[in-house]
Amino acid sequence: MYTLRSVLQTVVSDDLLSVDNLQVSLDSRKGPRVAILDGLTFVVGRGEFVSVMGPSGCGKSTLLNVLAGFQKPTAGTVVYRGAEIGGPSAERGVVFQSPALFPWLTSLGNAMFGPLARGVEKKQARAEALALLHEVGLSHATERHPYELSGGMKHRLALARTLANRPELLLMDEPFAALDAETRFGMQVLLLGLSERHKMTVIFVTHDIEEGLLLADRVLVLGGRPARVRKCIKVHAARPRDPDIVLTTEFVALRKQLRALMVELSDSGQGSI
Ligand SMILES: Nc1ncnc2c1ncn2[C@@H]1O[C@H](COP(=O)(O)OP(=O)(O)OP(=O)(O)O)[C@@H](O)[C@H]1O
Ligand SMILES: [Mg+2]
Repeated sequence: MYTLRSVLQTVVSDDLLSVDNLQVSLDSRKGPRVAILDGLTFVVGRGEFVSVMGPSGCGKSTLLNVLAGFQKPTAGTVVYRGAEIGGPSAERGVVFQSPALFPWLTSLGNAMFGPLARGVEKKQARAEALALLHEVGLSHATERHPYELSGGMKHRLALARTLANRPELLLMDEPFAALDAETRFGMQVLLLGLSERHKMTVIFVTHDIEEGLLLADRVLVLGGRPARVRKCIKVHAARPRDPDIVLTTEFVALRKQLRALMVELSDSGQGSI
């Protein structure tokens, strides 16, 4: 739905996404509906990388579900490219913790699936999928099926599959949480490069403070019951970003600041309900 406000917002700003006074209440088993998010307000600019952190159970996945179009807001507005989000769309790609792949298709088949479903011509879909598989380091595995891939390779394929739809906004919910430290670092470096090269806008939920800071232009910290934005931390580090920034004194200071805040929010029981 186009409102005067949403049209003006598109004309006067470079925001891709604007969340205004978002409230989400869900049914609880024991009693009345519980407000999970309330008064949540923030904007995300085009090309910006925003990490979202907060105690377990505070509502990060609920927020991502709203942005993906899987969950309707109870109140408030979520405006994406000038219109309220009405449901899921290929423009907003979602990557979850466990890679969503079709087991009966090869890597190439998985990466071509979205574009073919949207009516892209087969030759073009194949060429683009092969280029993406090359970019994520799977050129040698285009004809393998998911069961023949390692955990890290599955994650790289899931990323390629989502990127094949050329989403303008990438929504990621703890995508690397299940990976070992080395594979996880490889995925972080890969995502840094991909998001910078493709000028993607990314909203990335994580519990890992170093990961959240390394990747992001801004870290939004959620907390409270119901949750709202408790803190917004800017990361002033150059792009393309060097993963070695984690060793700098500025970065270590940010990490300490964010860790103290996360401990404070967890200790005050602002997470699960
Ligand atoms: N379908 C649902 N119905 C009712 N309550 C729900 C539903 N889904 C989630 N919740 C509740 O909403 C709150 C927020 O859940 P959510 O999954 O968004 O948290 P989270 O911040 O992503 O947590 P985690 O860091 O553990 O993934 C939790 O208290 C959870 O119990
Ligand atoms: Mg979650």
